[in-house]
Amino acid sequence: MAPTNRLSPWRTAPAPLLLLAIASCFLSESAATTPFPKDLQPISVVHSEQSYQFPGFQGLLQDNDTLRLGLDFQRLLRVNHMLYIAARDHVFAVNLTTASAHFVPQLKLTWHSKDVSKCTVRGKNSDECYNYVKVLVPRNDETLFACGTNAFNPTCRNYKMTSLEQVGEEVVGQARCPFESGQSNVGLFAGGDFYSATMTDFLASDSVIYRSLGDGRPVLRTVKYDSKWLREPHFLHAIDYGNYVYFFLSEIAVEYTALGKVVFSRVARVCKNDNGGSPRVLERYWTSFLKARLNCSVPGDSFFYFDILQSLTNVLQINQRPAVVGVFTTQANSIPGSAVCAFYMDDIEKVFNGKFKEQRTSDSSWTPVLDEQVPRPRPGTCAGDGAAADYKSSVQFPDETLTFIKSFPLMDEAVPSVNDRPCFTRTASRSKLTQIVVDVSAGPYKDRTVMFLGSDDGRVLKVLASTHPNDSFGSKLLEDIDVYNPSKCNVQGQEDRRVLGLELDKDHHALFVAFSSCVIRVPLSRCTQHAACKRACLASRDPYCIWLWTGSCANMAPGFKAGFEQDIEGDHSLHPDSCRADVMATTRKQEAAGAAADYGRKLFL
Ligand SMILES: *[C@@H]1O[C@H](CO)[C@@H](O)[C@H](O)[C@H]1NC(C)=O
Ligand SMILES: *[C@@H]1O[C@H](CO)[C@@H](O)[C@H](O)[C@H]1NC(C)=O
Ligand SMILES: *[C@@H]1O[C@H](CO)[C@@H](O)[C@H](O)[C@H]1NC(C)=O
Ligand SMILES: *[C@@H]1O[C@H](CO)[C@@H](O)[C@H](O)[C@H]1NC(C)=O
Repeated sequence: MAPTNRLSPWRTAPAPLLLLAIASCFLSESAATTPFPKDLQPISVVHSEQSYQFPGFQGLLQDNDTLRLGLDFQRLLRVNHMLYIAARDHVFAVNLTTASAHFVPQLKLTWHSKDVSKCTVRGKNSDECYNYVKVLVPRNDETLFACGTNAFNPTCRNYKMTSLEQVGEEVVGQARCPFESGQSNVGLFAGGDFYSATMTDFLASDSVIYRSLGDGRPVLRTVKYDSKWLREPHFLHAIDYGNYVYFFLSEIAVEYTALGKVVFSRVARVCKNDNGGSPRVLERYWTSFLKARLNCSVPGDSFFYFDILQSLTNVLQINQRPAVVGVFTTQANSIPGSAVCAFYMDDIEKVFNGKFKEQRTSDSSWTPVLDEQVPRPRPGTCAGDGAAADYKSSVQFPDETLTFIKSFPLMDEAVPSVNDRPCFTRTASRSKLTQIVVDVSAGPYKDRTVMFLGSDDGRVLKVLASTHPNDSFGSKLLEDIDVYNPSKCNVQGQEDRRVLGLELDKDHHALFVAFSSCVIRVPLSRCTQHAACKRACLASRDPYCIWLWTGSCANMAPGFKAGFEQDIEGDHSLHPDSCRADVMATTRKQEAAGAAADYGRKLFL
């Protein structure tokens, strides 16, 4: 099977270079007649006897609200060597440098809602009359920006990163933070502006992608109650990249109504220098808002879409190209299944530079807009850039450009995934994947890609993404770790096993796994369990495990260079049980020798 048949058509490097260029990750079997991918079996299963030893944090156990409701984890944020945990009424900070066998935050801030009496009057669930901290992002090198639901009165504050002391005044949180803990939101600072995506009202009827708090730039938002812009969205992630801020979300597909309400995943984009439209069209609205479908599907005879985005990484390098990697699941009413798909950022750009989609009459199907009907400068271009180089600001854009983008923000084509297929699927399990974090520089040579995937049944799958230019190798499921610990994570006997957050701390060989009521610190690997068994050490295929020439299996310490062996590709076929076989053979030999000696002794007595 030639790897070239899987290459994108616009790749033009000569063949030997191509082989090198793709010799990194996310390759799977050849495209032709692929059967539906089977679930990988884990090389190793980490059971609860072992995982219950992992340290965990469950909030303030002396606090009556925590005893009744649990931690109510909302968000993890790592900034350098600090890990911040946003929860109900609190933010905790763990200094990772001083992290010990225990898991104890060094700092905490308590932020209760003062509006509880007003809140209960509104007749909503009284458990919402707290302050769920839904936004926690760095504002600059020293300051964190935090927003809480504040008993249906969203509010934002600034805090010093090092001390969690409040600085400055509170600001209104509406359109920056949802009103309820269950509503989705994302937020980030880029160039001094705060970009947020959330629901702006008590009833969650108005969803918005919003920009505010900047110096000099106008406040902008998406058009209100326009289903062509956003339709019942669930916001997952935002990324500051190049001239744009990207938003990743799932929403009801406006272009596909044949089977009732179907959810599609989208990437949306706005220009950071957008100043809104003219007084005639789109004033105080985005003039650059575009969106496209993400295509995470298994091709072939059993063609199959994973349409619902659950979690997404920041931009990382795959095959030396900037990319993002996401976890997707199937439609809620279909058979459960999960997949991991990667998308190159330049493929996303390509779709945004392609055709627009339109519906000519309200009951016709959606079709591509003809090129000659697209006005100039091309809608979605940033002012001062490319085709819009002559425009200093978006407010000067001609009415035709603004009117067009107001009606047609949806692109015709879907963004293809890397190699046009998922790099990991799981379809035989009833549980679904919910979270992802990726280490693209795993192993002693920093050249391995390991994905950690959280599930809704309390497990973390550790997957080695394929690194072979030729595919016979494929991804490997290294470990299936049962992380959820009922004794640390249950609240009044109730369990909630869904993994809600993952964060890596490679410097200290740790993965933080967040559930609603606890955060567990999981070591990245368990190599010392192979002790002096070289075969088991190598057969683990684990980039974090090295066989030391001094005769033991060890966890890879950062910066480790010399005197070790690994066998990630599994070039030698090694059975993990072979050490036990060795040990048993040795024992038998010793027993035999002992018996012979006894026999000899008997003879000579
Ligand atoms: C917590 O509950 C106990 C028992 O119900 C009560 O005595 C105590 O005052 C409560 N503490 C706070 C801080 O509300
Ligand atoms: C974290 O702990 C280290 C070592 O104790 C200390 O040097 C550092 O200043 C701490 N960092 C913060 C942000 O408190
Ligand atoms: C998604 O990708 C598959 C595989 O390349 C392709 O066959 C299919 O047409 C794509 N779907 C959409 C909606 O673009
Ligand atoms: C591809 O795999 C086959 C069989 O595993 C092997 O013989 C061949 O050398 C490999 N090719 C490359 C370029 O690695």
